Amino acid sequence: MNALSTKLETLAIHGGAPVREKLLPYGRQSLDDADVQAVIEVLKSDWLTTGPKVPEFEERFAAWVGARHGVSFSSGTAALHGAAFAAGLGPGDEAITTPMTFCATANCILYQGATPVFADVSPDTLNLDPQEVFQKITSRTKVIIAVDYAGHPAALDELAGLAKAQIQRPLLIEDACHALGAEFRGKRVGGIADMTVFSFHPVKHLTTGEGGMVAANDARLAETLRRFRNHGISSEARQRQEAGQWFYEMVLLGFNYRLTDIACALGLSQLERLEANLARRREIAARYTAAFRDFPAIVAPTVRERVNPAWHLYPVRLKLERLAAGRGEIFRALRAENIGVNVHYIPVHQHPYYRERFRTEEGYPVAEDAYERLISLPMFHAMTAQDVEDVIHAVTKIVDHYRKA
Ligand SMILES: Cc1ncc(COP(=O)(O)O)c(C=O)c1O
Repeated sequence: MNALSTKLETLAIHGGAPVREKLLPYGRQSLDDADVQAVIEVLKSDWLTTGPKVPEFEERFAAWVGARHGVSFSSGTAALHGAAFAAGLGPGDEAITTPMTFCATANCILYQGATPVFADVSPDTLNLDPQEVFQKITSRTKVIIAVDYAGHPAALDELAGLAKAQIQRPLLIEDACHALGAEFRGKRVGGIADMTVFSFHPVKHLTTGEGGMVAANDARLAETLRRFRNHGISSEARQRQEAGQWFYEMVLLGFNYRLTDIACALGLSQLERLEANLARRREIAARYTAAFRDFPAIVAPTVRERVNPAWHLYPVRLKLERLAAGRGEIFRALRAENIGVNVHYIPVHQHPYYRERFRTEEGYPVAEDAYERLISLPMFHAMTAQDVEDVIHAVTKIVDHYRKA
């Protein structure tokens, strides 16, 4: 489709024929018969929750990401809460994080009664800018929570270096809910930060319905995480049954954040296809980038040196100066073409809950400017070649229409 031919097409939002008849979602799961079978087997077994599938999934997952320990949770949000707890975050402490994320990243700081401190992001990756983090560090900084936005790893080495240079040694928590399988300096994320948090929500690379995991190398952190997700109790029901014992102790105030055996069986089955799914996402990203790299009115995502992103999202930024319409109109025009675009993210500090409680007037200009321009294009491993071409066609058609001469 060349620029001339797309320019002649009437946009669906103006009454023309849409590029697709049915909506292409921005993300969705894909399950196969092996996944269904794995779940059925657990449903017929003795253990529906916290049975043998839980440690099996945790061990296989940890080995896959290159961490010594994996502790499963009922969601990525619960896993973040666990990581904030295990880091020792509490009232009076500060945790530095990015505004360019889903609110769960910052909420885990509030769950622990600590204060979130936002630092602005780098203009290329929209990940935490280490210089900005440096400006925000105080003697009360207990944790830095980086996010691998869209699946591109954060500047993990610089952030870890900053943390190590502080007397109080804040821990580095990596919210890798977008980044399962992403590589940083040749290593998969999971064994790099002090704790790395993953989500198994259906739009992610691997799903258990709801679910999450914390990967860590430190055995004590892993033990605290295990207790925290099980009411703060020192052993699990299955261990007690197998040991013929009834005694247990609650040693800390935890929650029921356990992931079920049903979910872990699904996770184990999904793990089998993770590499293939990642490869497909990388292929889709490469095709998008080839199509949009030199496009006059949009900016394709940047990939830094020695980084291999996992492409949970493919967010483009509009060059609004070159367009006769704002993001809202372009978004609506894409939806009218049946392209299920989305926006990631409304910066966390702009949500009313945060605005009303925290000092945000200093602003985060890079995150705020990016937010006005961002549109996430559909990205999921089951997208067909035709789906990808439909997205490129629709974006070309709309951007050509609104491009200033
Ligand atoms: C960056 C980030 N952190 C945390 C979460 C929370 O994960 P979950 O939905 O599994 O609770 C999400 C969910 O999409 C996310 O995108």
